[in-house]
Amino acid sequence: MTTIDETHLEAYMGRVMSHMTGSALCFGIWLGEELGLYRAMSGSTPMSADEVAHTTACHPRLVREWLDGQTAGGLIEYDPTADTYELSPEGAMALADDESPVFVARGMNALRAFYLDLDEVATAFRGDGALSWGDHHPCLFSGIEWFFRTGYQAMLTTEWIPALDGVHDQLVEGARVADVGCGHGASAVIIADAHPRSHVHGFDFHPPSIETARARAEEAGVADRTTFEVADATSYEGPFDLICFFDCLHDLGDPVGAARHARTQLTPGGTVLLVEPYAMDGRPTNLAQNPVAALLYNGSTVACTPNSLSQEVGLGLGAQAGEARLRQVFEEAGYHHFRRAAETPLNLVLEARV
Ligand SMILES: C[S@@+](CC[C@H](N)C(=O)[O-])C[C@H]1O[C@@H](n2cnc3c(N)ncnc32)[C@H](O)[C@@H]1O
Repeated sequence: MTTIDETHLEAYMGRVMSHMTGSALCFGIWLGEELGLYRAMSGSTPMSADEVAHTTACHPRLVREWLDGQTAGGLIEYDPTADTYELSPEGAMALADDESPVFVARGMNALRAFYLDLDEVATAFRGDGALSWGDHHPCLFSGIEWFFRTGYQAMLTTEWIPALDGVHDQLVEGARVADVGCGHGASAVIIADAHPRSHVHGFDFHPPSIETARARAEEAGVADRTTFEVADATSYEGPFDLICFFDCLHDLGDPVGAARHARTQLTPGGTVLLVEPYAMDGRPTNLAQNPVAALLYNGSTVACTPNSLSQEVGLGLGAQAGEARLRQVFEEAGYHHFRRAAETPLNLVLEARV
């Protein structure tokens, strides 16, 4: 008969309850972002629940309940004497200011898609593993856009591109750039905005994402130096001085084919910038030591791996491949130079050359 270790059980249940709490708070964050509740509190002196409700035109009783949930979760501070709530400046950076380098609130849309798409993902598990990117609820696309955009906005042109050999100067002088698997175009817009003499061509196989990318470029005033086209990662035409894959190589059915195609579309001496979700080499190390592994493996289970399995080759690299495995992909595709140029807690930034 199995013996239950009560201490172990208590610790285990503590972990499960904390995951449930996190999940419920993610809903609260997403709701607060949608309703403008954080923005209403950002930079303000402490507010009563009625003031927050009035400013956002929301129901006072529901706002009070939301505020208490946020306070219990440590996201908002409560003053019991004055019966007021306050969002700290740090909280405002994370949850209210979409230009801040740590903004995460809108990324909760991706988690919403995880839950909404459970039936489709379960069908993939019971079948051939395939679920194409475009068959998810559309909030996945904006959730992913905002989950990664924060890091791109903070570091892409100021740290990652300067860490590549000679690329910053090329872009300043005027270069042709490809952003493969560009999604809603966050990275393409950021590169174009910072380098007025360069032209960024975004490619994605998902037509609605390309439509949104064009709109984002218009809004940002860079439509004249960006072009967005529906194209598979193995079919666009260059040549390009810089070809980028932002958090998408592992989503592809044929990452080796995509890297090989990029090689044929590079100008002589051209560079591939590969940005992938952060992972450590070796499954046991990654599982034990990577703080973002649980989040990223789960995202990979819902979206990345099923998309890869839905396409030709169906390699199923997964979002936690790690540098050594990614190096193999590029070596197999005929590249002789591959190095880590930078990293963040969320991303590996890799440089490949022929
Ligand atoms: C995780 S999203 C990343 C989007 C964007 N690069 C970003 O960082 O926000 C992966 C993207 O790869 C695109 N994609 C998947 N398979 C593709 C393929 N075979 N060819 C081109 N794009 C593809 C999806 O449509 C999606 O926009």
